[in-house]
Amino acid sequence: MKIFVYHTPEQTPDDHLPDCAVVIDVLRATTTIATALNSGAEAVRVFSDLDELKEQSQLWQPNQRLRAGERGGEKVEGFDLGNSPLECTPEVVKDKHLFLTTTNGTRALQKVERANTVITAAQVNRQAAVNFLIEKQPETVWLVGSGWQGAYSVEDTACAGAIAQLILQNSDLPAIDIIANDETIGAIALYSQWRDNLLNVFRQCSHGQRLLKLDGDEDLKYCARTDFLNVLPIQKEPGVLVKYG
Ligand code: MLT
Repeated sequence: MKIFVYHTPEQTPDDHLPDCAVVIDVLRATTTIATALNSGAEAVRVFSDLDELKEQSQLWQPNQRLRAGERGGEKVEGFDLGNSPLECTPEVVKDKHLFLTTTNGTRALQKVERANTVITAAQVNRQAAVNFLIEKQPETVWLVGSGWQGAYSVEDTACAGAIAQLILQNSDLPAIDIIANDETIGAIALYSQWRDNLLNVFRQCSHGQRLLKLDGDEDLKYCARTDFLNVLPIQKEPGVLVKYG
């Protein structure tokens, strides 16, 4: 297995695809997707375009669908939910199709949606993503951070490092046979630096600051929890994520 880290969708190559793409948006899209599926949502359908989401969700019975999403971190007006994982309780999302739009996470998913396998990861389900990669042994793996409008986000790259580090720990191969670009070395170093204090870095980083202004400290605490959801979102068809297994 060769692991490549890309900090943002913009840095991710356009001219080829990996065997497996792992999309990461710790604050908060991929944390929310993992939580919704863990709470029994039937599927999460992701859209970067708001109008397309409205059009597609219209085709579903109102009792089968939930419209969820944010712009700038704030709930889209008229939607059922924002993008907080804390809203995705079983009482709210069980058996529903979540139609989700977010500023960056859904764009990152679109960037790699044609890869053979697409999964999503966050701190909350890091172990489940690693278990899948160890079991499937894809030849090339891209860990794609969502960033913020083209800029790097520390929390996504730290999560990429958390994934890469756990894979290295579970492999007999030397690191040099697994690490495929310098970004992966940087991501592992970043995670090693912050692993025992992720919440602190989430409170300092730019999107964490934005969420704190929107009263989002409980979200930050939740997103910083590591390996506590045993759920893996996997793409069934472009833009549609379901629970693996
Ligand atoms: C995004 O996709 O940019 C984020 O998930 C934004 C958010 O925290 O809601």
